[in-house]
Amino acid sequence: MIEKKFGYGIIGCGTISKWHAEAAAATGKYDLIAVTDVRKESAERFAEQFHCMAVDSTEELLKRDDIEIISICTPSGFHATDAIKVANAGKHIIIEKPMAITYEQIDDILKACKDHNVKMQVISQMRFKENVLKAKEAIDSGKLGKLVIGDVSMKYFRSQEYYDAGGWRGTWKLDGGGALMNQGIHGIDTLQYLMGPVKSVFAHAKTLARNIEVEDTAVAVVEFANGAIGTITGTTSVYPGIPRKFEINGTKGSITLVEDTITLWDIEGETEKIKEGDQERKLDSASNPTNFGIEGHIMQLDDMAEALIHNRDPKVNQYEGKKPIEIILAIYESEKTGKKVLL
Ligand SMILES: NC(=O)c1ccc[n+]([C@@H]2O[C@H](COP(=O)([O-])OP(=O)(O)OC[C@H]3O[C@@H](n4cnc5c(N)ncnc54)[C@H](O)[C@@H]3O)[C@@H](O)[C@H]2O)c1
Repeated sequence: MIEKKFGYGIIGCGTISKWHAEAAAATGKYDLIAVTDVRKESAERFAEQFHCMAVDSTEELLKRDDIEIISICTPSGFHATDAIKVANAGKHIIIEKPMAITYEQIDDILKACKDHNVKMQVISQMRFKENVLKAKEAIDSGKLGKLVIGDVSMKYFRSQEYYDAGGWRGTWKLDGGGALMNQGIHGIDTLQYLMGPVKSVFAHAKTLARNIEVEDTAVAVVEFANGAIGTITGTTSVYPGIPRKFEINGTKGSITLVEDTITLWDIEGETEKIKEGDQERKLDSASNPTNFGIEGHIMQLDDMAEALIHNRDPKVNQYEGKKPIEIILAIYESEKTGKKVLL
């Protein structure tokens, strides 16, 4: 039996849109019909490369009856407006992170998806990595005992040219934040996915080295709802850029992941152990923003198609997508007020 293919479109034909087109093709469940971009030439170049149509506007894309799912790959500050338009047109949404950059935008998206009964998958590809899932299973099954500390360290390097080239990057209006809202959101989402909900943050978020409006460096002390504590460290200003590291420690075991490689796995009573130095280093985007694989996007687009086929929610629906944003907005508020912020 031939599997159903979903008519598919993309808004925004910049860097990340290629991951979406290639991931959609790799699943075999999508038929890329048309794309659009405010820069007509970007849409046309993309359409030629991926053998689809370039249309002149988002409105034109939304009018098409042959498109059921749309990926939103525009700058972050446009995500909410685009998502609401797509939902109003009754089409399902795959949206890049962050799905929105303010509380109001989050609420508007939740309402639009509910009112129009459309599904949303928020890209957070780390959640789909085999070793992240393995760590989550061990944590959720209580193997680590009582969770005590959960840390994530994201010490990235992004040059001034990187910020200047995008135009929208590094601005409050369109990036919504810096080292945390743009780069750090993946690590923050993964930390809260592994450790559980965050109860409070106390943070510093500064612009120390780049000529941008938003933070290029932040550190937060975090309290989790389960009583554990931890830290979130994020920067885009340190040379040479150091691969992201998660350390999860409990009374009966510890797990460390560098990117999605397990570099430490030591659980009381388990004979299988992984010690630091045992592993090969994999791809990481610590100093190169496009140095990451496509597998995560493939799994998320596949999950979206399966969610529609089986009428269930995608794994990172809009309610999951809002979690890391709320933590980041609380960190910004803590910097502003000098106080601990409760979530
Ligand atoms: N999941 C990931 O790992 C990952 C990686 C990179 C970027 N992203 C996210 O993807 C989004 C886009 O980032 P990028 O690096 O591809 O940016 P980019 O600047 O390379 O591309 C954005 C594209 O959107 C177009 N555009 C701008 N406004 C538009 C509008 N109103 N309607 C239609 N098109 C419009 C631009 O012309 C450009 O082609 C951001 O939200 C970013 O956070 C996610």
